[in-house]
Amino acid sequence: MTADGEPAVSAGPAAPAMDDATALRLLREGRLEVAGRLVEASNMTLYCTVRLGDLSAACVYKPVRGERPLWDFPDGTLAAREVAAFEVSAVTGWRIVPPTVYRDGPFGPGMCQLWVDADDEVDLIALIRSRHPGLRRMAVFDAVVNNADRKGGHLLPLTDGHIHGVDHGVCFSDEDKLRTVLWQWRGKQLPREAVNVLNRLNRELENGRLGRRLRELLTLSELATTQARVARLLETGVHPNPSEDWPAIPWPPI
Ligand SMILES: Nc1ncnc2c1ncn2[C@@H]1O[C@H](COP(=O)(O)OP(=O)(O)O)[C@@H](O)[C@H]1O
Ligand SMILES: [Mg+2]
Repeated sequence: MTADGEPAVSAGPAAPAMDDATALRLLREGRLEVAGRLVEASNMTLYCTVRLGDLSAACVYKPVRGERPLWDFPDGTLAAREVAAFEVSAVTGWRIVPPTVYRDGPFGPGMCQLWVDADDEVDLIALIRSRHPGLRRMAVFDAVVNNADRKGGHLLPLTDGHIHGVDHGVCFSDEDKLRTVLWQWRGKQLPREAVNVLNRLNRELENGRLGRRLRELLTLSELATTQARVARLLETGVHPNPSEDWPAIPWPPI
C-alpha cells in the first residue's frame, strides 16, 4: 500500500488456484468429511475436506440445521442466501465470493464453500480504511445483495492482493439493511466498470440464468427488490450513502 492507502499495484481479479468450474464440481459431487468446527462462527460452521477422485480441497459447510434463528430473516434460509450471493458474484466476474454450492452433507442440506487461504499478515483495520479497488467492487456488490453484515472478519485478503468476501447469510432481505464497514466511496460516482457490471446484472436478473437461479433460492419479492436495487444504482450512478433509519455499521466491526 502507498501512504494514502492506494494499493501500489491495481489488483484485479487474480488467477485462481483451482478454476471455479472444477471447484464447483468438486464441491457439488465430492465426498464431504467434517474436520472441525470454526469456534468463532455464530452458526454451525464446519471446516471440511471434500474429495472427488484425485481432486480434493478444504471447504466450509454450514448445514441449514445449524443456523441460528434471527428475528429479521426467515428460519432455514441463510444457506440459500449464501449461494445466491455466489451466483450474483459469478455474474459480476469480480470473484468476490469463493465457489459456493447448496448440497446435502453429514448434517443435512446446507451451503458448501471453497476454503480460501487468507493472508493473516494483512492489517484488517488498515485494509478496511484503504481505497483498494477490490473493496470498491465489494461495496457495489454489497449494495446489490443488500448485505447486512460486511464486517472486517468477512474480508479474506489473499497474498496476491485479491480480496474475497464471505458470510453472506444475511443478504437479500427485501427491506434495505446495508450494513458495512466499506463506506469510503459513499455518494461517489460509480466507476464505469461498475456501471457495466450493473447493466449486465440488470439484464441477467430480468431474463437470464441469474434471474432463474435466484427464483429458486430467494422469494419473488427478494428477487424483485434485488432488481430494484440494481436499477436504483444505475439511476443514481453513485455509491449509496449510509441510512439514518438503521445502524449502517456492523457491530462488532471486525
Ligand atoms: N470460504 C472461506 N475460506 C476461508 N475462511 C473462511 C471461509 N468462510 C469463512 N471463513 C472464516 O471463518 C469465519 C467464520 O465464518 P462465517 O462465514 O463468518 O460464519 P458464521 O456465519 O457462523 O458467522 C470467517 O470470519 C472467516 O474467518
Ligand atoms: Mg460471520
